[in-house]
Amino acid sequence: MGLERLEEVRASFLADLERAGVDADAVERVRVAYAGRRSGLLQELAGGLRELPSEAKRDYGRALNELKKLVEERLDEAKARVAEGRAASADRRVDITLPGRRLARGAEHPVHLVRRRIEEIFLRMGYDVEDGPEIEDDWHNFEALNMPPDHPARDDQDTFYIGASHLLRTHTSPVQARVMESRQPPIRIVVPGRVYRRDSDLRHSPMFHQLEGLVVDVGITVGHLKATLETFLRALFSDDVRVRLRPGFFPFTEPSAEVDISCIFCAQRGCGVCSGSGWIEILGSGMVDPRVFEAVGIDPERYTGFAFGLGLDRVAMLQYGIPDLRQLFAGDQRLTRQFE
Ligand code: PHE
Repeated sequence: MGLERLEEVRASFLADLERAGVDADAVERVRVAYAGRRSGLLQELAGGLRELPSEAKRDYGRALNELKKLVEERLDEAKARVAEGRAASADRRVDITLPGRRLARGAEHPVHLVRRRIEEIFLRMGYDVEDGPEIEDDWHNFEALNMPPDHPARDDQDTFYIGASHLLRTHTSPVQARVMESRQPPIRIVVPGRVYRRDSDLRHSPMFHQLEGLVVDVGITVGHLKATLETFLRALFSDDVRVRLRPGFFPFTEPSAEVDISCIFCAQRGCGVCSGSGWIEILGSGMVDPRVFEAVGIDPERYTGFAFGLGLDRVAMLQYGIPDLRQLFAGDQRLTRQFE
């Protein structure tokens, strides 16, 4: 016992504390070992005081007090560092209660949603999905469909021409001709795609979407056409929708029919969407004209068929209540975000 012993304890305390760093448990162990009430080293050193001769007691006592003070101060500092370390790591910690950062995510375009729904309905009925070129030649877009060069129906189509023989297809019907040229019946297809016409207002855009349907086989009748369209339109809109065929005209079908559905907004009481009539015109259709079969090399004596064409954009407008067709293609995310 003596001052050298105090010096030893001081040195080992400082070394131990240094090693403990900001580890709370390690600092606490150092505290217990040196300043612990019952068996801490300082307690033991204080016990040593009694054994000393009285002239040494004063120096030893003073040195012991200094050591006690140092131990207290350094332990306080170490505890403060521990607390600081905790606060700092709390800053760095991930707060799992915070809302996450959203990834920018695309949404399916309403016309695409409609297209897929319709494709699914027809796939279930055993149809194939086909496509064809948007830059089309005059033959497929017009001539094969019974519209020779001087045919008046060409005027209705407001065609974008590309040179003398090519054009942006004005409807999906040229794909009928392409498919029939390339294979013999039975044919059962739908063809979704972009089409182009020089036209722009609330209900028209220079680019829009159609879906063509074509069925060719032995013994196909108007009955098949009507039943198919009823089944399709009820699956698309609702089971209680009524379907009406009105006489119409297309150069490539005979007879032809415009097809209406009962207004899905007012249950036929009359509203703005159906202009008070209770009916909404939804597609064009008819029995494939024998002259079309002749043009594409299918025997009109053997086969009959029906075809129809539907505006996908119009269906999207009806289903989602979009008032202006051009909004669909303006690229404004305030519209498309609503379909996320
Ligand atoms: N192609 C016609 C149009 O664009 C629609 C149609 C397709 C009509 C097939 C009858 C049969 O208006």
